[in-house]
Amino acid sequence: MTSTEHEIPADPSPADLLPPTPLTQSAEWAALTAHHSAIRDRHLRDLFASDTERADRLTFEVADLVVDLSKNRLTDETLRLLVGLARRARLPERIDAMFRGARINTTEGRAVLHVALRAPEGERIEVDGRDVVPDVHAVLARMSEFSDRVRSGAWTGATGQRIATVVNVGIGGSDLGPAMAYEALRDWADAGISARFVSNVDAADIFHATEDLDPATTLFVISSKTFTTVETLTNAATARDWLLRGLGDRAGPDAVAKHFVAVSTNEAEVRRFGIDPANMFGFWDWVGGRYSFDSAIGLSLMVAIGPARFREMLAGFRAVDEHLRATPLERNVPVLLGLVAVWYIDLFGFDTHAVLPYNQELARFPAYLQQLDMESNGKSVRLDGTRAHLPTGPIVWGTAGTNGQHAYYQLLHQGTHIVPADFIGFLRPNHDIGDHHPLLYANFVAQTEALAFGKSADEVRVEGVPEAQVAARTFDGNRPTTSIVAPALDPRILGELVALYEHSVLTQGVIWGIDSFDQWGVELGKVLAKRVEPELTANDEPALRHDPSTNALIRRFRAANPG
Ligand code: F6P
Repeated sequence: MTSTEHEIPADPSPADLLPPTPLTQSAEWAALTAHHSAIRDRHLRDLFASDTERADRLTFEVADLVVDLSKNRLTDETLRLLVGLARRARLPERIDAMFRGARINTTEGRAVLHVALRAPEGERIEVDGRDVVPDVHAVLARMSEFSDRVRSGAWTGATGQRIATVVNVGIGGSDLGPAMAYEALRDWADAGISARFVSNVDAADIFHATEDLDPATTLFVISSKTFTTVETLTNAATARDWLLRGLGDRAGPDAVAKHFVAVSTNEAEVRRFGIDPANMFGFWDWVGGRYSFDSAIGLSLMVAIGPARFREMLAGFRAVDEHLRATPLERNVPVLLGLVAVWYIDLFGFDTHAVLPYNQELARFPAYLQQLDMESNGKSVRLDGTRAHLPTGPIVWGTAGTNGQHAYYQLLHQGTHIVPADFIGFLRPNHDIGDHHPLLYANFVAQTEALAFGKSADEVRVEGVPEAQVAARTFDGNRPTTSIVAPALDPRILGELVALYEHSVLTQGVIWGIDSFDQWGVELGKVLAKRVEPELTANDEPALRHDPSTNALIRRFRAANPG
């Protein structure tokens, strides 16, 4: 990447991570804001018309992905200034510190080492003097051995039948990643084993996930980093009851051992739940939940697609990690994506970001990214506890194309909000049937063209549209998009895409000086829910000490659920 000027210590303080003066007081920020004022009204039509090389120059490559930034409202100078800002924010030092295992998650005092999950054997990454790479490979080997046994039928349920369905029980990072990846890679599920995912504490979730399953052929993977998450433990207990009730006389003493495995960092709680630690797959506190599906949290995925495909996915992650570490910031694609996001949020004030995969198998990708991005960068204080100087993480949303075109693209094309959007397209389909793929790709291309260039009033008039309708049929254009093109969706490409976004999120967090790896914002609601639950179920009328609105909501529930 770049040589780092000042190495961040292994156990840094916020001051070691932040630039000495706030970024907004830097010359780099002043230059960027001046530049923004100069170009903010330039239309993409003019930017393309005045520069025939623009598309070539602003298209970058990372591993197997091509990333075209040219339909964004920026110039080469914008990127140069953003890169300057990233240097001022000490991004190269932070990337280096992450790969070295420094405790850059300062509010939790933890290293941030999802990159170690895909490090090849032989690489050394130390946390507290211990090389963690052999630990990663030991767990991968255990996962592989277990997956092979389930896939081959050597592992059977309590009645001796093969496993047909793996049900992952988890929530947040212990659900969204494996669920998204299973949907994306189900074409590789070649052992006759399908996966399902239960996350919501709403009983409807586990009810529908299990209603047509045979307990004798069902394996539950209870996935929870902490093994204290109430939704997961509640669903796991319901799953255990369902299994034992369903097996009845066939259960035998080892039914739970044969139908339940755990993925966690918390062996004591796994044991307390009744799962034999021999059937537990571990990971480490330096893997954030939302960065964890390439750890043992991906076990359900590995059982479905097999260890070899899982490792191909890890190789895809790794390729982008290497790019992050070794490529100058000027051509470092995840860094540029993160900086372009900062450009829109902080300079233009566009505060939402759409991710639109033109691939049905990536339908869950936006939901996965919502946690990755918003739980990471939805913060308003900096590492040192001071208020953020700039608006932080965007609101991330999206669905698989072409569905969104017939729902909310109206707003993207003609609404008063400007929504920067990532369009993700694939050159080859996974299901080559009829004319579907050219049609899909045509829409992927056409949407970004329409958003960028629009349709002028004169163009509308030439079509003979009555004057009264011209305004309604005019498209202003100048709506920014990034096109990400991949050869085809496969395990490796999925790893590349996820790592691309992981590192873009890191880049944005470094600019804002926030801790992208904690999530204190989820705590208060959890604590209050724990207080409210007994108030809903107490036999005697509880003395409610909430605000009047909350008290009334609780009383309504009690009235509807007497006794
Ligand atoms: O509540 C948020 C969170 O802590 C996420 O960060 C995490 O991915 C999710 O809950 C699940 O946590 P666990 O894996 O410990 O059950």
